[in-house]
Amino acid sequence: MTQAVTSQVVILDYGSQYTQLITRRVREVEVYSILLPGDATFKRVFEGNNPTAIILSGGPNSVHVKGAPSVPDGFWEECEKRQIPVLGICYGMQLIVHCLRGKVEGLGKGEFGRMPVVDIPTHTKLFGEDIEPQNVWMSHGDEATVLPDGFKCIGKSEQGCVVAIEHETKNLFGLQYHPEVTHSEKGMRTLKHFLFNIAKCERSWSMANVLEEQIQIVKEKVGETNHVICALSGGVDSCVAATLVHRAIGDRLHCCFVDNGLLRYKEAERVMEMFKNELHLPVDCVDITEKMLSELKGVSDPEKKRKIIGKEFIECFKEYKKTVEKKTGVVPKFLVQGTLYPDVIESCPPPGSDQKHSHTIKSHHNVGGLPKELGFELIEPLRVLFKDEVRRLGKIMDVPRNFVARHPFPGPGLAVRILGDVTENNALETLRLVDEIYINAIKEFGLYDEIWQAFAVHLPIKSVGVQGDQRSHSHVVGLRAITSNDGMTADWYPFEPKFLQEVSNRITNQVRAVNRVVYDITSKPPSTIEWE
Ligand code: XMP
Repeated sequence: MTQAVTSQVVILDYGSQYTQLITRRVREVEVYSILLPGDATFKRVFEGNNPTAIILSGGPNSVHVKGAPSVPDGFWEECEKRQIPVLGICYGMQLIVHCLRGKVEGLGKGEFGRMPVVDIPTHTKLFGEDIEPQNVWMSHGDEATVLPDGFKCIGKSEQGCVVAIEHETKNLFGLQYHPEVTHSEKGMRTLKHFLFNIAKCERSWSMANVLEEQIQIVKEKVGETNHVICALSGGVDSCVAATLVHRAIGDRLHCCFVDNGLLRYKEAERVMEMFKNELHLPVDCVDITEKMLSELKGVSDPEKKRKIIGKEFIECFKEYKKTVEKKTGVVPKFLVQGTLYPDVIESCPPPGSDQKHSHTIKSHHNVGGLPKELGFELIEPLRVLFKDEVRRLGKIMDVPRNFVARHPFPGPGLAVRILGDVTENNALETLRLVDEIYINAIKEFGLYDEIWQAFAVHLPIKSVGVQGDQRSHSHVVGLRAITSNDGMTADWYPFEPKFLQEVSNRITNQVRAVNRVVYDITSKPPSTIEWE
């Protein structure tokens, strides 16, 4: 990928829910890794990416199913010729056994969850010194019953299944369990041993290298005279991307922050201040509140809201392009986008879906993504990074913590947190106050960083209450707080009752329009994180 990166691990994805985790684990130990779809061509695996080591991921299939994914023709010969070590994990191990003429069978017992590994011989290549029994995380139905020629079993489960194998002379290894999950006690040690002692990978993936290199790439792409624009959302990705590009080309970067009228309490002022005073980024704030709210008047359908908001945003951006042209005398040619690695990898789809490859991002999440006809060339300096890496990159560029650790906020803003017409019943004002009280309390109780996302929702129902000795008929608000890794699945956060009591009191005392507070205790799935 880069000149500074001297080792690269290719991970072939056969559809396990843990595949991205393997990629991140490898990067955590400063070795660059990329994820390719399990059916990547020979050329893509070997010529396009020049792997130092290859990991075959787990997956939900059985090797016996018709059309079960496998490695490309010539894979094993090429690995041997180039002496590329291969580690198969779960389905990946079964693939090794199956392709090299051993036997994989479904014996109907299966092993799921935590399991001790026993019978590890004293001298193995894969475990190195780690010969004591260890608990690991297992998830398989099929098992290897006959090993191919040259392989030996180097670990069994308590039930007697083969859970670790290695070739006597070649660098081919298999683990039936998942070393990448934390429940596998010594999984990371085994993975590191494979990377550093067997594959001789070098630690060459660091955020400092990424920064230096991306700055160089941006400089070369943009040249000496072109101008670049960037839409800042106030979130971490666009902020880190813009900061990096600003370092590369200085004030030929023009950033635009759109106040669409659907932002949180004092958000536009606060964010603009941070851009100016802490990041020293050139940012114009464009206020389209009036137009946006008039377009949203009377609209209750969430998807219609999203479409309107997306359209207004694009209009606004077209105007901004003209503004920059007027100011500089140059038509800005490039657009910065904070696209991340999970948005671009072609992972295998979840089982049962009809897609060939899944793209993690949902179409409705692209509000703010700009259409092709605007005629920009894209600059995407975060394309190779996971979110936690973006945060680390932000940190080394001194992006303030307030930005780096912020909870995600959806492009359509409070419009998808007010169920129904956003212009009715003073809903925006009420929700802003409630959300501010809630988030401040979360920060005050030291919980902000434990929670992936928290927010309040304005419900379109009123309930009866007693406020100031009088009967009231006021709004109900919902509070939501979730933990998650990537927003694709989520769990509700178990606040202490004392916290909920305090927040509920504060809200009903300080916001007259609200007399009832409820807490959302649903995970995703079956719910989504947002209510609309
Ligand atoms: P859901 O509600 O789909 O949300 O579980 C997952 C994550 O995506 C955010 N989200 C959006 N972000 N435009 C965005 O930019 C949208 O239309 C949108 N809808 C949901 C949500 O806040 C959560 O972080």
